[in-house]
Amino acid sequence: MSGITFSEVAKSYDKTSIVQKSASEKLFELLSIKPTEDVLDLGCGTGDLTVKIRKITSGKVIGIDVEKEMIEKSLNKYGKKNITFKVKRAEEINYKDEFDVIFCNSAFQWFKNPDIVLQKCYEALKTKGRIGIQAPARKVYSPNFIQAIEEVKKHPKTKDVFKFFEEPWFFLESAEEYKELFERNNFEVLYAEIEEKHTKHTPEEVYNIFNSGAVAGYLNPKYYKIPIDETYAKAFREIVKENFYNQVDEEGKVELVFYRVYLIAKK
Ligand SMILES: C[S@@+](CC[C@H](N)C(=O)[O-])C[C@H]1O[C@@H](n2cnc3c(N)ncnc32)[C@H](O)[C@@H]1O
Repeated sequence: MSGITFSEVAKSYDKTSIVQKSASEKLFELLSIKPTEDVLDLGCGTGDLTVKIRKITSGKVIGIDVEKEMIEKSLNKYGKKNITFKVKRAEEINYKDEFDVIFCNSAFQWFKNPDIVLQKCYEALKTKGRIGIQAPARKVYSPNFIQAIEEVKKHPKTKDVFKFFEEPWFFLESAEEYKELFERNNFEVLYAEIEEKHTKHTPEEVYNIFNSGAVAGYLNPKYYKIPIDETYAKAFREIVKENFYNQVDEEGKVELVFYRVYLIAKK
């Protein structure tokens, strides 16, 4: 068996997660965390945004993530910053009326059962507490990535294995559908929008962005119904990279398009 998980992504996440980090700025603005609020960072990754939260509030700050390596990295970097980091699945948190704010950046798409997560979040929030998410949205969350994956789907070196891949992500197509999801879990939705963001990068940068998150799904043995090997993983990477090189404009840059949902809701 071969492939990749977030444990491996953790090793390079600090350098390659530019897209997730820049998308988080708007989430910070929308949530506007106050100086004494208690905050839970759901799917905190390597802790860089958790420490940003720590700088805003003197309240309790907890970061949870399902991957041990992500939490180890967070602890190595920020273990002395008065933040509690825990290995925990979002579906299994058991807090009651503890947080003013739940912050969830670039992680919601990974939750297998978003209804359960939202029920747990509702219980974890204090009355009038708020939750804010930023996550890739829509099945074609990035036309550039999907174009590369279409190539993998038909390429002779990958097509026979890729057909056994089952997409792990959860996406909805419209802000209205995200709103309904939160409302059926008792939240009052204050803001919901799907943003279409265009940025320009070298193909190498696009490949790095792909490697900072998406690859943890596409090359994860867990999401294949048959074993995958190193030859397949290597071919997959080469095809994706080559496709990004084929997407360049006359300046040698790729116009990367991403759809992201921003949603703020109140208990
Ligand atoms: C793209 S990273 C985002 C990390 C961080 N929030 C950021 O914006 O930089 C997604 C994170 O969600 C975590 N994750 C995925 N599924 C999860 C789950 N069910 N419960 C908790 N964390 C989860 C992954 O391990 C990963 O660290």
